[in-house]
Amino acid sequence: MRKFLMVLGVLALLLVSLPVLLLATGTIDPTSLRMVLNVMTGAGGPATDEATARERYSLPPGFTLSVYANDVPKARFMRFTEAGDLLLSRPHAGDILLLRRDANGDGRPDAKDVLLDGLKRPLGLAIDGSWLYVAESNRVGRVLFDAESGRLDGEYHPVIEGLTDNGNHWSKTIGIGPDGKLYLAQGSTCNICEEEDERRATMMRFNPDGTAGEIIATGLRNSVGFDWAPWNQALYATDNGRDLMGDDFPPCELNRIEAGKFYGWPYFNGDNVPDPDMGADPLGRSPTAPAHPFRAHNAPLGMTFLDARGLPAHYRRSALVALHGSWNRSSPDGYKVVSLHFSGDGIEERDFLAGFNNADGITGRPVDVAQGPDGAIYISDDYAGAIYRITYTGDTIANAGALAELRSVSRLDTQPPDWLATADLEALDTRGAALYARHDCASCHERGENPKLLNGLGERLGYNAIDQVLREPPSPMPALPLTEDERRALAVHLLTRN
Ligand code: HEC
Repeated sequence: MRKFLMVLGVLALLLVSLPVLLLATGTIDPTSLRMVLNVMTGAGGPATDEATARERYSLPPGFTLSVYANDVPKARFMRFTEAGDLLLSRPHAGDILLLRRDANGDGRPDAKDVLLDGLKRPLGLAIDGSWLYVAESNRVGRVLFDAESGRLDGEYHPVIEGLTDNGNHWSKTIGIGPDGKLYLAQGSTCNICEEEDERRATMMRFNPDGTAGEIIATGLRNSVGFDWAPWNQALYATDNGRDLMGDDFPPCELNRIEAGKFYGWPYFNGDNVPDPDMGADPLGRSPTAPAHPFRAHNAPLGMTFLDARGLPAHYRRSALVALHGSWNRSSPDGYKVVSLHFSGDGIEERDFLAGFNNADGITGRPVDVAQGPDGAIYISDDYAGAIYRITYTGDTIANAGALAELRSVSRLDTQPPDWLATADLEALDTRGAALYARHDCASCHERGENPKLLNGLGERLGYNAIDQVLREPPSPMPALPLTEDERRALAVHLLTRN
């Protein structure tokens, strides 16, 4: 017993003195230390106000940022109720907050209530009918919840118990799948090791009452965020790559999760590069490569697929991912929200909300993304203790629905038009370039304050879809008197020049 206490004492001392030690020995710089403490204890930086946030942070053209809340330190994961209230988990406060919907229209929640507290590091949130699910670090519980009043309708009780939460990645995330099952992601105990508890570093699936749990995917080091693509119900999850292999390796990952597959950790990193510390995989498995690599140490956390109604057309088939940011690179990286655009050609990553690492240092760390019933995008920040609300106020496309339909007809999805096989592409391209100049397409597509660039068009539209756009242009693009041949020429020109 005495020996045990001594070990405990030494451990406690280490924990307290470790940051000081790391600093003193130059192993870690003050910024990284702040980032580590942010993850370990939820400690944040100064709060932010709307004017400062707007000045510091950038968005694509047409989007506007407001600060929905700046009094929610330790804010981590979010889930909207169908009534438009925002549930917010705070693992380091042990509670779940309910930010009441903005009925009075002042741009802020009407109230902030503590819905549940005394929980053990709750992170994941899910709603299934009238059940609200919460993933604590060692169990998943649920409670009846009345969305209209925003109040609990009974006692909170566990449905999955006995989860382990030792080691590094104790947090648990949950979601209700299109199959009505409860999905649970749990991170690894360590940076790189063999796990004792086979449920760690996996994705699991349960009946909604917590029974019939099964591991469906393994080798996921720390998949904190996941969501299902609305167009094909495929499950995608973010994954944080290992540390201590330099600034730029391995990439963090977006994985397409399929039942029965192995995603590499701890034996492989990134695109299946064998791990130098682990040796060969004793089971000799061949891992599934990431669907998309994020830059190393960017720490992708929450992700959500967007409902693109009311957004520019290229957000159809897109997701937003919060990059919490590195603590272990010689220059900090991440600290932004990126958009992923899915097409037949793969996944393109673009900056969405950026600028958290700025002239004033690191001023925020995005954690999770949610889209409200109002279509606005909400982003939590556990460093500034804030929730940002982002709306699209740029040109809306009058016939967004029709254009969205077109997008699904990508060059790779459907048959190419029959004229293409015998067409003289070079002649069509020359003719198309002349038409492009004659109708001054560049006046809107290349010049002006907010040009609608047609770069990379081939990733989004095929010949038939471009033909459609030119026959029935999205407002405010004017309807031009083009013959069928002219439309073909323009389509060839647009698709061959980039
Ligand atoms: C008065 C401005 C204007 C002019 C002139 C114009 N367009 Fe457009 N065009 C638009 C707008 C606005 C959109 C919708 C862009 C968006 O938000 O996706 C658009 C969309 C498109 C799209 C679909 C883009 C995409 O990303 O899916 C194509 C293709 C296109 N235009 C081609 C042309 C061509 C070719 C011409 C000349 C013959 C032309 N446009 C002239 C304003 C214009």
